[in-house]
Amino acid sequence: MLGASPSTLAMTEITLREVTKDNLRAVLRLSVTEDQRQFVAPNPVSLSQAYVSLDAWPRAIYADDQPVGFVMLSLEPEKPEYWVWRFMIGADHQRNGHGRGAMHAVVEHVRTLPGATELKLSFVPAANSPQPFYESLGFELTGEEEEGEKVMRLALG
Ligand SMILES: CC(C)(COP(=O)(O)OP(=O)(O)OC[C@H]1O[C@@H](n2cnc3c(N)ncnc32)[C@H](O)[C@@H]1OP(=O)(O)O)[C@@H](O)C(=O)NCCC(=O)NCCS
Repeated sequence: MLGASPSTLAMTEITLREVTKDNLRAVLRLSVTEDQRQFVAPNPVSLSQAYVSLDAWPRAIYADDQPVGFVMLSLEPEKPEYWVWRFMIGADHQRNGHGRGAMHAVVEHVRTLPGATELKLSFVPAANSPQPFYESLGFELTGEEEEGEKVMRLALG
């Protein structure tokens, strides 16, 4: 139930691009607000984890030709199990519809993967958590908890 895109998206194209030597510094510089730091690891930490994790799928989120965020999926087609491991839009770029556009792109990608019937994620249940953002995209709480985080799922119908 990924809803209609906001009007800003009509003019802005959101794409997920590989992190390369050309955009690495821009991705490393992107950060969330101080209040939001409890919800997502810093991008340098995520990219270090990606370096040693075979199932990590790290991508820069672009609004047209500008890097505005970062997403890292965990892809395990052999199970099959697909998770949003990290997801952030830089503080200066939030509330412009980029998060919604990026999650649309993530869902489109995961839909193409073997045996994909759902996309899962977990979040830290604290004030101003991203729960309303994910709910607005159709994710639902599963009732499960993983290491103190609440799990949500989106059925890929
Ligand atoms: C969550 C996050 C990715 C959203 O990105 P964004 O680009 O600001 O989101 P969008 O502009 O696409 O928002 C789409 C809709 O989601 C909802 N939404 C977005 N951020 C929200 C928030 N902080 N609280 C409540 N609702 C929110 C709103 O309904 C919004 O529509 P509106 O702007 O018309 O009201 C961004 O706030 C972020 O990076 N947060 C910190 C890191 C984080 O929590 N990551 C998730 C880890 S599990």
